[in-house]
Amino acid sequence: MNTPQHHGRVAFVTGAASGIGRQVAHQLAVDEGARVYVADRDAAGAAEAAAEIRAAGGQAQEVVVELEATGTLLHSMAELTAAFGPPDILVNNAGVVKTIPAADYPLDHWNTSFAVNVTAPMLLIQHALQHMQRQGWGRIVNIASISGVRAGTGRLAYGTSKAALIAMTKQFAIEVAESGVTVNAIAPGPIDTPMVRSVQGSGHQASYADMIPMRRFGSPADIADSVMFLASEQAGYITGHTLAVDGGFLASGVLVRNLFQAPAAAAA
Ligand SMILES: NC(=O)c1ccc[n+]([C@@H]2O[C@H](COP(=O)([O-])OP(=O)(O)OC[C@H]3O[C@@H](n4cnc5c(N)ncnc54)[C@H](O)[C@@H]3O)[C@@H](O)[C@H]2O)c1
Repeated sequence: MNTPQHHGRVAFVTGAASGIGRQVAHQLAVDEGARVYVADRDAAGAAEAAAEIRAAGGQAQEVVVELEATGTLLHSMAELTAAFGPPDILVNNAGVVKTIPAADYPLDHWNTSFAVNVTAPMLLIQHALQHMQRQGWGRIVNIASISGVRAGTGRLAYGTSKAALIAMTKQFAIEVAESGVTVNAIAPGPIDTPMVRSVQGSGHQASYADMIPMRRFGSPADIADSVMFLASEQAGYITGHTLAVDGGFLASGVLVRNLFQAPAAAAA
């Protein structure tokens, strides 16, 4: 195991009650020694995730945050950080997705997608930067998606909002680049979490996996490990970058299975 890097630091992880965010919060606290805000609108899930971290020897505080409430988010953040300390590491992980045909996409879900996937991260970054720039160190990691790079069926609001999150990552990164704060994004491919199971249903998983060169879904730990790297000292010269963690999906074009296998082996 690595030496913990983040003793004495505070990390704020959104969507930390479930899936990827839960694993990120766990690794930041238990493996890297940070004091972690487990932030989610799911109060019971956040409490359970924070308790799990504490049981494993880490420090965690659950906080209930509704990211759709963008009008009051900064006020809630100010209250929280007064009590627990301002974040040195911010992971904008929470996200929402609904697959609906583009021609019929309802405005209310478009607005929700942009509130949670773009506006809330923007406000949280602005809030975190006040402290990070003052101290001359900070790490911000935005969890985007391969859907922000390539289109996916039914993902009008999801893909467009994740593309905006990737663009926003670059905008912030260059403006704060001299201050010791890095801003990066991760574009996960399909990761086995409650979100992906609800969107795809079990019937689609095999055909989706077939489009991935590694032919399998990733795990929350695959993404959390990449967050640990981008939050580390070793990643101090990386900023404005979007790291695909996707089993080769974005690299892939024409993908022909078994092309170079002997006919007998391919048929077997
Ligand atoms: N799972 C995948 O295949 C995949 C692929 C690419 C990108 N991502 C991205 O990774 C991130 C995490 O996804 P996941 O698969 O772990 O999802 P998940 O559904 O398991 O967890 C998402 C968490 O975010 C919380 N959340 C949602 N809306 C919220 C709101 N308005 N306010 C506060 N909390 C809210 C939920 O309560 C939940 O705990 C998302 O941004 C998602 O878009 C996931």
